[in-house]
Amino acid sequence: MAVNAVRNAGEMSDAPPPGIKPLPGRVTSPRLTLRRWHHDEAATLSAGVAASLEHLRPWMPWARFEPLTLTERVRLIEGWTRDWEEGGDVVFGIFLDGEMIGGAGLHRRSGPGTLDIGYWIHVDHVRHGYATELTAALTTTAFGIDGIQVVHVQTDEANEASASVPAKLGFRRSATNKRVPEAPAESGRLIDWTMTPDMWPHALHL
Ligand SMILES: CC(C)(COP(=O)(O)OP(=O)(O)OC[C@H]1O[C@@H](n2cnc3c(N)ncnc32)[C@H](O)[C@@H]1OP(=O)(O)O)[C@@H](O)C(=O)NCCC(=O)NCCS
Repeated sequence: MAVNAVRNAGEMSDAPPPGIKPLPGRVTSPRLTLRRWHHDEAATLSAGVAASLEHLRPWMPWARFEPLTLTERVRLIEGWTRDWEEGGDVVFGIFLDGEMIGGAGLHRRSGPGTLDIGYWIHVDHVRHGYATELTAALTTTAFGIDGIQVVHVQTDEANEASASVPAKLGFRRSATNKRVPEAPAESGRLIDWTMTPDMWPHALHL
């Protein structure tokens, strides 16, 4: 199969196998470019995560595995690329004038017809509206994909900064679910924020 051939060659391709429709690999907003990571950018990603680690640790479950070695980071990016090529999640770097200022993703974890948005912003770039801007751009992008009828953002009840993002954009607080906390500051109460095309003004322009 084409994906394996690419894998065996040790190369990452932007061309998906025939018949598979990957999620968009690049999204732009007025100030930001969101694009997939390439494995030769592992050091850039590591530097951004390292600078923000104490800011990320309370909320991002994956932060407990940091710092990754360069080899581990390359493998992580290669795994993201394979997932994307096979029609799964897409993981983006967020770039402002070419500088990496965070990470985001569109995730299929809530099942068919739904995409979940995740995000983090580099500690030196918070409070400039970037998370709000990229969430708006990803929501518009998601509703432009065939079959996507719901966009979710999930935030822990204790993470007020994160919850403000979907709240500001008019997402509806649809449910609160209990779960075992996955990061040190989490309460274990996960809020589901929901958007549908009829509630999304930007969908009019799709
Ligand atoms: C949550 C996070 C992504 C917000 O990013 P950001 O780019 O600073 O967010 P925005 O600038 O778009 O802020 C949107 C609103 O959120 C609220 N907000 C953001 N940071 C806040 C903070 N530290 N305290 C209180 N409210 C905050 C504000 O209401 C803000 O609007 P305002 O600036 O007009 O008042 C960022 O703080 C972060 O990366 N946190 C660590 C990782 C994380 O929690 N990720 C989300 C996991 S679900």
